[in-house]
Amino acid sequence: MKNFTFYSPTQVVFGRDGADRAGELTAAFGGRKVLVHYGGGSAVRSGLLQRVCRSLEDSGVTCVTLGGVKPNPRLSLIREGIALGRREGVDFLLAVGGGSVIDSAKAIAYGLCMEGDVWDLYAKEAQAASCLPLGAVLTIAAAGSETSNSSVITNDETGEKRGYSSDLCRCRFAVMDPALTFTLPPYQTASGCTDIMMHMLERYFHPGGVLSMSSDGMTESLLRTMLVCSRRVLEQPEDYDARAEVMWMGSLAHNDLLQCGNGTRGDWACHQLEHELGGVYDVAHGAGLAAVWPAWARYVVDADPARFAAFGRNVMGVAETEDRAAALAGIAAFEAHLRSLGMPVTLTELLGRRLDGEEIAALAHGCSFRGTRTIGAVRPLAEADMAEIYRRAL
Ligand code: NZQ
Ligand code: ZN
Repeated sequence: MKNFTFYSPTQVVFGRDGADRAGELTAAFGGRKVLVHYGGGSAVRSGLLQRVCRSLEDSGVTCVTLGGVKPNPRLSLIREGIALGRREGVDFLLAVGGGSVIDSAKAIAYGLCMEGDVWDLYAKEAQAASCLPLGAVLTIAAAGSETSNSSVITNDETGEKRGYSSDLCRCRFAVMDPALTFTLPPYQTASGCTDIMMHMLERYFHPGGVLSMSSDGMTESLLRTMLVCSRRVLEQPEDYDARAEVMWMGSLAHNDLLQCGNGTRGDWACHQLEHELGGVYDVAHGAGLAAVWPAWARYVVDADPARFAAFGRNVMGVAETEDRAAALAGIAAFEAHLRSLGMPVTLTELLGRRLDGEEIAALAHGCSFRGTRTIGAVRPLAEADMAEIYRRAL
């Protein structure tokens, strides 16, 4: 097992009606004037926003609100939020929504603590020195932003989707009420489940074989549980226990627990391939991941057939004795599972049309930051590899 540091400071308040404690929690973490940030309407329609604002008021916390966050959250709204936050003198950010709302709130919280343009962080031209404190009331199990140290935003002027990671932006608290996710449309439920499984897989596929049996064992067990629960939440959207398992696994998948002892954060090539798709074509993150994973897995499988075979046997239950056969059977079984959730497993299914050669080349060029970086760890991928994976994903 390799050395590691594990830091997961977010106070999780899990269970029914946690949203009514948003005010008490915000006040406990020092919030006096809060910017409540939310999305395109689900939090208004369900009455959640009103509940949260009432709870803040009851705890003596003043608030201003800013809605309108779209999936693949836009830099333009973030800049609006920073200007609003400055004008109003806010000292705390409260995100009511999913990964997009939380990430937009994280970017506003950074922006309120810096002189320059917040995009400089995401363009890797600056480092954050501080960040306003944040809390989250989570409404979708997916990105894991409620306990992660990352945020991912899209520059709507350039179509670039970029992430920035720092422990400064970890939420002080996360309210997680599984019942809030009952209203999710099936596509968003499936997309969220896919993202959760991908956060497990990105960490599972790392070079070096078995380095931490506990991390591998937890990941395999959680993936098997996700296979069961992802089906259940689609069949019975109001099954509280299944929604609860998925919601909790969303946090466990992305609070770094599953990489302890592995010596690296994992592979993450599929996430980079997807971020390019999200920035250019504005697709749902989990669906974009489902569309590239099978092509990625078959492209890199020979770099580590033993690990793919372990995934096939221990997670997907395949019986093949020879490693390469077990690896390929495992990939096919997982692809079939994604399909059974209603997820696209090709780019053509994702986008509803076949991309041409120029579009593929542009995606690979963008994903490689114009040919200046490689992605992935199981097998490092250069621009030409990225283009080949996008092509095979057609
Ligand atoms: O805007 P509203 O009306 O709320 O609709 C949202 C949105 O359309 C809807 N929704 C959310 N909760 C709902 C609901 N609809 C009905 N009932 C509810 N309870 O769901 C849609 C998707 O929401 P979004 O916040 O975009 O979902 P998700 O949590 O999947 O976040 C995706 C974003 O997070 C980034 C992704 O790249 C993407 O931009 N990620 C962030 C990460 C992080 N910060 O650690 C890691 C991830 O790998 C990921 O990259
Ligand atoms: Zn993700």
